[in-house]
Amino acid sequence: MTKDKLYIFDTTLRDGEQSPGVNLTANEKVEIAKLLSKMGVDICEAGFPMSSEGDFEGVRRIAKEVGPLMDGRETIGKPMVICGLSRATKGDIQRTYDAVKYAPLHRIHIFLATSDIHLEYKLKISRSECIRRAVEAVAFAKTLCDNIEFSPEDAARSDRTFLCEVLQNVIKAGATTLNIPDTVGICVPEEYGALFKYLRENTPGSEEVIWSAHCQNDLGLATANTLAAISNGVRQVELTINGIGERAGNTSLEEVIMALYTHPDVYPVYNDIDTTHIYRISQVVIQRSGMPVQPNKAIVGVNAFAHESGIHQDGVLKNKLTYEIIAPELVGVPSNNLVLGKHSGRNALKNKLDELGIVLSDVEFQKFFLRFKQLTDAKKTITEHDILALAGDQAIQDNLETYKIQNVLISTGSDVLSTATVTLIDTSSPSGDSEGEDDDDKKSEGKVLVDAATGHGPIQAAFFAINRLIGRNFVLEHFEIQSVGSGDDALGQVFVRIIPEAKEKADKSKQFAGCGTHNDIIQASVRAYVNAINRLIEAEKNDKL
Ligand code: KIV
Repeated sequence: MTKDKLYIFDTTLRDGEQSPGVNLTANEKVEIAKLLSKMGVDICEAGFPMSSEGDFEGVRRIAKEVGPLMDGRETIGKPMVICGLSRATKGDIQRTYDAVKYAPLHRIHIFLATSDIHLEYKLKISRSECIRRAVEAVAFAKTLCDNIEFSPEDAARSDRTFLCEVLQNVIKAGATTLNIPDTVGICVPEEYGALFKYLRENTPGSEEVIWSAHCQNDLGLATANTLAAISNGVRQVELTINGIGERAGNTSLEEVIMALYTHPDVYPVYNDIDTTHIYRISQVVIQRSGMPVQPNKAIVGVNAFAHESGIHQDGVLKNKLTYEIIAPELVGVPSNNLVLGKHSGRNALKNKLDELGIVLSDVEFQKFFLRFKQLTDAKKTITEHDILALAGDQAIQDNLETYKIQNVLISTGSDVLSTATVTLIDTSSPSGDSEGEDDDDKKSEGKVLVDAATGHGPIQAAFFAINRLIGRNFVLEHFEIQSVGSGDDALGQVFVRIIPEAKEKADKSKQFAGCGTHNDIIQASVRAYVNAINRLIEAEKNDKL
């Protein structure tokens, strides 16, 4: 079978970032984009530049800092294309171009709804006006750059004849990729596959463009729909790491890539993804987005490679292939074996970080070494999972600096209110204002804030103390603890989502997720809470609310 190249378009930083609570900083976006580039992603949708100053800056930095990188892309032979999303207006398109233009390879992705329900109620325009706007937008974008993607939003619910008319016109205006989104996740695989067959057969000029699939997972069918699209001629697929995205999420990259890997004879395509990077990126996205995956999540969930029943365990011991379709190493799942311990020194830790692809500056490494040593006092066996989780925790705490945790003191017991005394450093205030602080080093970091509060349990007490310190209240929308590995000394990983309390009613669309990792779950909870607050402050600075 001759195979076509399947272009992998990752939209973790755009559609994925539209998940409730996810607010990545520009530094984090650059970090994730670098990992995507190394893994072999062809096109990175880095954001929606017109949506906020922060998004514009994130896309611009990715275009400048990641766009030219060739690191680890020998098999592909060219750098990643950096793409920005844009509404079909000249202002949006110009802004998008101004952000992506720094990348040697860049793309403008224009979307305009085509379903009658969107035209009538959302855009309040006729079908002919829709075609006029689409053509005008693509033609204008073409004056800025060659590589133009067009998405008829809600295509799956659009009238097919009208859809062909729109698509024929945008091809003539210069679109090079046509993406057909199932925006509301309504399709089943047979239907979505048939839609591509119809559009490819009935759109004049169809052979000149690359057809692309973009699915939402409202019915849990995003991966199946994407595969059906590939069988019907699609040669670009739009995916996110861990399937993050609005509502039930988008198509998950790891599922599509591993389905293709395990079925080389079914799909007439190849791709350039190095599958051994999948687990690491998944973990980075979990910690930076504050969105855990469920234990039974395909490919990257904690149970994905666990064999519980006796019969399965027996089979796997005799021959892994009895119950294992993918070797964990193939997607980069680290081993659960002891890798470092109490007596491991700087060199051993450095080597392990290198092996795991974690790059730290000298200052970051010194800090990480201290945390590692603290952990070896509390935990006998340090695994690669622990190192990944701890390094991720340090990165997210260091990256967002407004409030730093200096100390958390808890007094608790049964049948009594718990008391928490929390010390934070407000790095945005000058250190000279610190009260009762003798240590010169600490002073130079910012203003030291100390307060105490009581609560029904130590975590509530600590969260209340933090609210008092910063003078704001939050609705705790979600709280979840997971353990990293097993054993009573396992690291705890806490995920929270908070909503700033408004005078009237808290607005659920303004959620901020945070993640914290520590061997003490109260400290992990405080780290997650402060992380979410720091993200909120960052978003306020970038006018993203
Ligand atoms: O779901 C959707 O319709 C989209 C398009 C903008 C591609 O995200």
